[in-house]
Amino acid sequence: MDFSDFLKFLSCRSSVREYEEMPLEDSAIEFIISCASTAPSAGNLEAWDVVVVTDADTRLALADASFGQPHVEKSPALFVVCANYVRSMSQYGERGILYAVEDATIACTYMMLAAHARGLHSCWTGAFDEDEVREVLGLPPHIRPIAILATGHGHPPARLAERMDIGEHVHRDEW
Ligand SMILES: Cc1cc2nc3c(=O)[nH]c(=O)nc-3n(C[C@H](O)[C@H](O)[C@H](O)COP(=O)(O)O)c2cc1C
Repeated sequence: MDFSDFLKFLSCRSSVREYEEMPLEDSAIEFIISCASTAPSAGNLEAWDVVVVTDADTRLALADASFGQPHVEKSPALFVVCANYVRSMSQYGERGILYAVEDATIACTYMMLAAHARGLHSCWTGAFDEDEVREVLGLPPHIRPIAILATGHGHPPARLAERMDIGEHVHRDEW
C-alpha cells in the first residue's frame, strides 16, 4: 500500500450503527485483537485489556449501561477496551494513569482500523456509565473501561461525516 492508498483507506471508514444479525467469525475477532497487540504502548507495557462480548444478554446490559444506545445491543461483537492501571502504574506511578488510558485508546484505534481492513464495520462508543459497565462485566477496581467498540457486518451511512478544516488543528512552531 502506498501513502495515498493509506489516506484513501482511512478516509472511507465511517462509524456504522446498523448491523446484520450475523455473528462475527472467531477468525475476525482474533484478527482484530492481533492487530491491537501491534500497537505501541508506554514502556511497551501494553496497559490495556479487552473484554470481547458476544452474549446477547450481556450486549443488552451493556446497551443499557450506554444510555440505551441501540447499536450496542445490535452489534454481534463488542470489544470493551480497558485501561489496566496496575500494569502501567507499577512502572510509572501517577503518570501511569494517563499512559494506561493512552495505551487503551491506541489499542482501540488499531481494532477499529483492523475491522475496517477486514471489510467489517464499527462504532467507537464512549458514552456509557462506567460503574454499570464495571458491574456487568465484573471488572476489578484497577481496570477502567475506556471504550466499547461495537463491530459487525453493517450498513454504512450514505454520507461520510464532515471534518473541520485541517488548518484549524494545526499550529506551527508555537500556538
Ligand atoms: C471518544 C469517542 C466517543 C464516541 N462515542 C460515541 C457514542 O457514545 N455513540 C456513538 O454513536 N458514537 C460515538 N462515537 C463516534 C463518533 O460519533 C464518530 O466517530 C464521529 O461522529 C465521526 O464520524 P465517523 O466515525 O463516521 O468519521 C465516539 C467516537 C469517539 C472517538
